[in-house]
Amino acid sequence: MIPFDAAVVRRDFPILDQLVHGKPLVYLDNAATAQKPRAVIDAISNYYLSGNANIHRGVHLLSERATAGYEGARLVVQKFLNARESREIVFVRGTTEAINLVANAYARPLLRPGDEIVVSILEHHSNFVPWKMACEATGAVLRVVPMTDAGELRMDEYERMLGDRTRLVALGHLSNALGTINPAAEIVRLAHARGIPVLLDGAQAVPHMKVDVAALDCDFYAFSGHKLFGPTGIGVLYGKAELMDRMPPWQGGGDMISSVTLEEVRYNTLPAKFEAGTPDIAGVVGLAAAIEYLNGIDMEAASAHEIALARYAEAKLSEFDDVKLVGRAAKKAGIVSFVMTSAHPHDIGTILDREGVAIRTGHHCCQPLMHRLGVPATARASLAFYNTREDVDRFVDALGQVRKMFG
Ligand SMILES: Cc1ncc(COP(=O)(O)O)c(C=O)c1O
Repeated sequence: MIPFDAAVVRRDFPILDQLVHGKPLVYLDNAATAQKPRAVIDAISNYYLSGNANIHRGVHLLSERATAGYEGARLVVQKFLNARESREIVFVRGTTEAINLVANAYARPLLRPGDEIVVSILEHHSNFVPWKMACEATGAVLRVVPMTDAGELRMDEYERMLGDRTRLVALGHLSNALGTINPAAEIVRLAHARGIPVLLDGAQAVPHMKVDVAALDCDFYAFSGHKLFGPTGIGVLYGKAELMDRMPPWQGGGDMISSVTLEEVRYNTLPAKFEAGTPDIAGVVGLAAAIEYLNGIDMEAASAHEIALARYAEAKLSEFDDVKLVGRAAKKAGIVSFVMTSAHPHDIGTILDREGVAIRTGHHCCQPLMHRLGVPATARASLAFYNTREDVDRFVDALGQVRKMFG
């Protein structure tokens, strides 16, 4: 593996080399979606140029090729997550769909009035709303783990919440809004000690750290391709075979059946049982290309680089007397969330855009968290390994412009 160098890997991402409002683009919105390396763009393009066909039932060469690409990608994901079996990897549209699958096919049939699901105040809406919906449909209760003012999960409260009625824990691995890295292994250990299964929302974790589902021993793990430098519209649900075998399908259609008569439908085995209809084959091919690209990068060094840049940005921002950093967890990824007393986050984002700097502003799909923080919105810069110190300096300089206009 070649030593990590942000300036070198950056060249693999053609989109970064462009002007925005006449200024070189500084892309700091990676938590919303990451940019794609040429290897991913080429894999998708080659698939459509020479390999496009529907999968699984075709006898012609292109269909066989597409099926091999699709099922080969499942092995790539299995290895990436260190799952025991490839049938534990289900392709879905993204993290949102993965969590909805578990909420509908695992939780809803199981939940009785008074049962409990545990989430936290840090969750993205996609790891909150599906559970709220499941609770409303069944009479179950949503328990919400609070956080400290620094943005860390209150593990003492979490442990206290786990009880006889807890049917599932569903927690984020890494907070998109604050960057907090949750103690995933400890979360699983405490739940399993009481026989409670755990789903981890890994949407923000997989692009920034090595995730090993066997070592974590989580029961479900969800992530999206597009945050992992792959295409949009594709994601993964990992689930332990012994749990997913027992779950009913949640969507009916082609591929998820083994036989259909007028009287009876028999369902397919894993993973096809959860992959009804023609999937996003090109998306799967692109996702595998993204993972293979990442396999060539020293992810530990890349992650250390991102974190160092974020801490550098935070040190610079703390020199601004009108900036308040939001989220000061001890274990934190490359996410810098902040508010300014002089300007609304929306204005910050708009002015930064004019300077060529792309950040995200708003509630980050975490309204309960914003409520807890007592702010309607934050501005968020989120880093990827292709960002450089120069990007951060441009970001900080652009914030200086905001101050000049509003301060
Ligand atoms: C922590 C977290 N969970 C879930 C999601 C939802 O991912 P998707 O929209 O790709 O389904 C996101 C997206 O921002 C996220 O950051």
